[in-house]
Amino acid sequence: MPIYEPAPDGGEAAAAWTRAQAEGLARSDDVVAPVVYPPESEPVSDDVHVWDTWLLRNRDGSVATVDGYRVILSLTAPADMLPGKRHDVATIRYFYSADGTQWHDGGPVFEDGAAFGARQWAGSALLDDDGTVYVYYTAAGHRDAEELTYEQRIAVAGGGRVETDADGLRIAGPFDHEVILEPDGERYEREAQSRGMIYTFRDPWFFEDPETGRTYLLFEGNTPVPEGSDACGGDAERQAFNGSIGVAASPTGDPTDWELRPPLVDAVGVNQELERPHVVVRDGRYYLFFSSHDHTFAPGIDGFDGLYGFVADSLRGDYRPLNDTGLVLTNPGNAPYQAYSWMAFPHGDEILVQSFFNYYDLGGLSLDDVGHLAPEEQLRKFGGTLAPTARLGYDGDRTWVRGTLAHGRIPLGSEELPPLSPVGDRESTRGYGR
Ligand code: FRU
Repeated sequence: MPIYEPAPDGGEAAAAWTRAQAEGLARSDDVVAPVVYPPESEPVSDDVHVWDTWLLRNRDGSVATVDGYRVILSLTAPADMLPGKRHDVATIRYFYSADGTQWHDGGPVFEDGAAFGARQWAGSALLDDDGTVYVYYTAAGHRDAEELTYEQRIAVAGGGRVETDADGLRIAGPFDHEVILEPDGERYEREAQSRGMIYTFRDPWFFEDPETGRTYLLFEGNTPVPEGSDACGGDAERQAFNGSIGVAASPTGDPTDWELRPPLVDAVGVNQELERPHVVVRDGRYYLFFSSHDHTFAPGIDGFDGLYGFVADSLRGDYRPLNDTGLVLTNPGNAPYQAYSWMAFPHGDEILVQSFFNYYDLGGLSLDDVGHLAPEEQLRKFGGTLAPTARLGYDGDRTWVRGTLAHGRIPLGSEELPPLSPVGDRESTRGYGR
């Protein structure tokens, strides 16, 4: 049983992602993923685009299995919709699999109109010890609003169950929906305070600390930087880039009861969006990962669409950027937008990284250029399905790409992965294996 001590009050300063660290960003061999091609077998769904994806997990973070099935939840939109419009209509669906390779569409997790928000963005999902399913999600905009707005609140839907029968698996409601976190305007910026490009208060991720038994919710936020502040030497343009990794603690361990705490990391003057933060604990170290885009770095920093990470000796520890700069995994220079929204999870002595197949075959086009192509071309160049799962090695503050598994492959801890061939003193397969 986890111990539910009250979480410490906070007051701890966030670790900073500094410009000096981010200025060193480079596509070295250790961080570049192999080129992604469309899947050879059926994509996860012909009916919907699939992007941000997360696992149904147990409280201890392990992949949940129910009667032999594992379950993923994904943001989805109709497959004939222009990919750039998908965020405006996102719906959370679930898919289940008996082998971690072939996924079946279980349909939307929530009944029509039941969830908060005009649409629902990324989150996480807990199968609690008593069999209750909690789905954390971002309520984007307002259900009854006539116009599309970008306000974000963090919500939970609790009370669901997982049922199985001869036909497969169902996540069954009814769910109780509740808004659990809103920005306080002091540690976490409200939308009205935002001076930046893309405001954020989203992507809740449930985490039980294995060292302490305490329960946390990580999320993506922005640190308020009042006008006239001397942050970034008073440079107002840089101050507008103020991404943070936020955290809330549950004083009781109750998965619906949360209090905001100070951010774990912030990137004032460095980057606006530290997306989908999550933690993998290995060898007593806390690997804190998040995704970010090339276009959300502050002026003067050349970054990439990539998975970034920090490491510390405790959840509230003094985070150091992995690989000196923070970059863990990125797309090749000739396919810079092929994957996004990475989600890392442990497997034996490796860390596996799931993501979605984004834009490919761009021949040097920028994402802005893509928006001006004919609709069929925009659809043809968008993967909209699960990407090959990447394999990372790690050692202290270093990580390296070892190779990839098939598209959408989610192995259980007990499943052996194909061997890697040695290259120098590191091993690497730049090919694909199951
Ligand atoms: C990452 C992301 C998430 C957000 C979702 C909206 O791909 O920006 O932060 O929840 O997409 O579609």
